[in-house]
Amino acid sequence: MMNFLSDETRRDPYPAYAQLRTRTPLLYDPHSDTWMVFDYEGVKRVLMDHEAFSSLVAPPSAQTSQWLVFADPPRHAQLRALIMRAFTSRSVAGLEPRIRALAHALLDPHIERGEMDLAADFSVPLPLIVIAEMFGAPIEDQPRFKRWSDVIMALGYTLEGGEAAARVHREFAEVSAEMKAYLHALAGQRRAEPREDLLTRLVEAEVDGARLTEEELLGFFQLLLSAGHETTTNLLNNAVLCLLGHPDALAQLQASPALLPSVIEEVLRYRAPVQAMFRLTRREVSLHGQVIPAGKLVLPMIGAANRDPLKFRDAERFDIHREPNPHIAFGHGIHFCIGAPLSRLEARVALSVLLERLKDFRLASPTPWTPRKALHVHGPTHLPLHFTPGER
Ligand code: HEM
Repeated sequence: MMNFLSDETRRDPYPAYAQLRTRTPLLYDPHSDTWMVFDYEGVKRVLMDHEAFSSLVAPPSAQTSQWLVFADPPRHAQLRALIMRAFTSRSVAGLEPRIRALAHALLDPHIERGEMDLAADFSVPLPLIVIAEMFGAPIEDQPRFKRWSDVIMALGYTLEGGEAAARVHREFAEVSAEMKAYLHALAGQRRAEPREDLLTRLVEAEVDGARLTEEELLGFFQLLLSAGHETTTNLLNNAVLCLLGHPDALAQLQASPALLPSVIEEVLRYRAPVQAMFRLTRREVSLHGQVIPAGKLVLPMIGAANRDPLKFRDAERFDIHREPNPHIAFGHGIHFCIGAPLSRLEARVALSVLLERLKDFRLASPTPWTPRKALHVHGPTHLPLHFTPGER
């Protein structure tokens, strides 16, 4: 099988996707005993058909088995209902002034110098701070969240197995214990003194007449910290990469800022921050004329589906006027991303502040950017930029 993890392919997996989509839209990799799906209809089917494709990919004994994203019905709907209301467009709209102030505050220290690492200084901290505040975790604890979420994200980088994977699993166990102790204390405070935050909602919530267990509470904290973070980080960075690669689109956006929402949708399609999800076949399933046995890991490749020419005209073209744009960057079906309205809001606010304050931005280094080394996410680890300070 081709090396999906080489830097070159991680920067640009799309030629490989295009080749595979035409040759074998359903590919079996004997090395990892995994099935990968590359076409739009196939990916959508896998995401939607939760009878055949289960989300119970975490072993029952693992802490990750508590995560909403790895739950199946009926438990999935019960858990999802607990946090759903906090993430509707209407609920998150009130965060706009805070996100704007945060975006400015993160840029302030770098503006005069005319250079910054957009990833480390802006795209990483912004979504992390927003989700931690929504959850109700105090701002002074943020350095810990970054470490925790880095270790959690590293879990997704362990598909290859081996010693590196074993180390990540050990670190995750350590971090889970730390997070559990941290949450135990914080949850105690919220029980005594409720506030307007997600943690208060979760400690007060009941499923089938019972309070959430500490493991379930920890599951929400871990999932939200990681899902609310690296994904939006990649969306912001990928938007800047797309605009740098398409100066005509950048010029149009600068002339008509109202294009921003449509630019964001096209970035989500063109460089999907989440490239793949994970499913487990519950039984034997036929797809594209092949039979996937029961109990097999299946990767619906969202990043490839979003470039399927059978669904999108000029699929390989970055077209900021694309209408309609039925990309599936946020998934499809019962697990559809709860954070979609939040990350769209974060992207709109953060990118508009960025365009206002970083004029004439360009890559600071002639060497190609370093990509995240995992199959399921897509974006740069660092994004050093030079720019001219704009007006505020
Ligand atoms: C689920 C992508 C931002 C929370 C998902 C899924 C995708 C996705 C593809 C579906 C998983 C599946 O089918 O198994 C993204 C992208 C984002 C983003 C591309 C940013 C650009 C966020 C944010 C949050 C969040 C900001 C929260 C604060 C969740 C949760 C789920 C989820 C809780 C699980 C939903 C469920 O299982 O019912 N996301 N996400 N995501 N996302 Fe996001």
